[in-house]
Amino acid sequence: MLIEKVVKPFNVVIDNIASDKSISHRCAMFSLLSDKTSHIKNFLTAEDTLNTLSIVEQLGATITRDGGDVTITPKATLVEPKNVLDCGNSGTAMRLFCGFLSSVEGAFVLVGDKYLHERPMKRVADPLRSIGAHIDGREEGNKAPLFIRGAKLNAFTYVSPIDSAQVKSAMILAALRANGVSKYKENELTRDHTERMLKGMGAKVQTNNEGFIEIEPLKTALKPLNITVPTDPSSGFFFAVAAAITPNSSVTIKNVTLNPTRIEAYKVLQRMGADVQFNQKEDIYEPIGDIVVSHKELNGVVVEENISWLIDELPALSIAMSLAKGKSLVKNAKELRVKESDRIVSVVNNLKLCGVTYTEFEDGYEIVGGSLHKATINSHGDHRIAMSFAVAGLHCGMTIEDTECILTSFPNFAEILSTLRV
Ligand code: S3P
Repeated sequence: MLIEKVVKPFNVVIDNIASDKSISHRCAMFSLLSDKTSHIKNFLTAEDTLNTLSIVEQLGATITRDGGDVTITPKATLVEPKNVLDCGNSGTAMRLFCGFLSSVEGAFVLVGDKYLHERPMKRVADPLRSIGAHIDGREEGNKAPLFIRGAKLNAFTYVSPIDSAQVKSAMILAALRANGVSKYKENELTRDHTERMLKGMGAKVQTNNEGFIEIEPLKTALKPLNITVPTDPSSGFFFAVAAAITPNSSVTIKNVTLNPTRIEAYKVLQRMGADVQFNQKEDIYEPIGDIVVSHKELNGVVVEENISWLIDELPALSIAMSLAKGKSLVKNAKELRVKESDRIVSVVNNLKLCGVTYTEFEDGYEIVGGSLHKATINSHGDHRIAMSFAVAGLHCGMTIEDTECILTSFPNFAEILSTLRV
């Protein structure tokens, strides 16, 4: 993919950014917890979430789909699939299905692409096994393919050593079919779509005074979902950075979730000096509204708190940091190493090709801002790396190799990016 430098300022309203990936995965999966038809509008029609939808179909649900309008009618009893369940590139799908399927009668094999097969699954396999789940896989259950045989699960009290919404969600899903009330605690709140959506469907999922999420097992089927999936703030963030680094430019990102666990990167951009406004319009499962980002000169910033709230946006933020005045520091972000690629390596290797001075740490990096030049960079098969450096291309031009991965989350990314150049 060849990106040309932008020559004129842009002031655009964007209403066709990809729908939220985390919420779309959960819509597909959670509809299986109801006995009625769920109606989902604006479902993300990208590779990752369409894979999840296929898995839901393999588990016996009847699905109709017209673009992003999806209905899902589950079977009374889930079907044991004849084939492997392909999660593609998605860690969210694989980890959440581990929790979901651990208590379902039958045998299930979860597979994915070559990148997903290298990502750690012990973080869900270990706590699930400790409550009675039968999960196995390569490297003693740490790597896919994973094999699950449904079992009876025990209620649990679990304090997670990792702040991960995927681990939390897997455990909450398992708890819904355990033999008593379960309790789950994380150090810092991670994205909470699972709790919000399950509560909206009628499940008893409550956080107590000590910070434990208490989950009661289901006695009956849940209410179906009736939801319009909001815009994905992580996908919208590429355009926020585009505006922040381009003089006299602005973008309005429409109908995006303003869930506080998802918009922290926009607040970092604000701290760096960009003009960022959040305009909430409604609250259905999630607060939803528009975000307006306008260019102002950017300064370096330290990012060391609330890391799980901006983990997916750090690659795009690294572009803003490279063009800011002064040094920026990212700390406590070791989780970056186990995302779709090792994002510390893929960010700094590509910044190096663009002439940026940096220091790499085990849990982050320091970037010396000021300039970034054209290069040919590699995505490392990681959609967020490809899109971050495409945005950098607006500043200086860029060639990005291996961009098919963008289809996993944001198929019309290049089309929207090209509208900034007219
Ligand atoms: C996700 C959780 C995050 C995020 C991922 C999607 C989810 O991972 O990086 O892209 O939908 O639950 P963690 O498990 O590290 O929180």
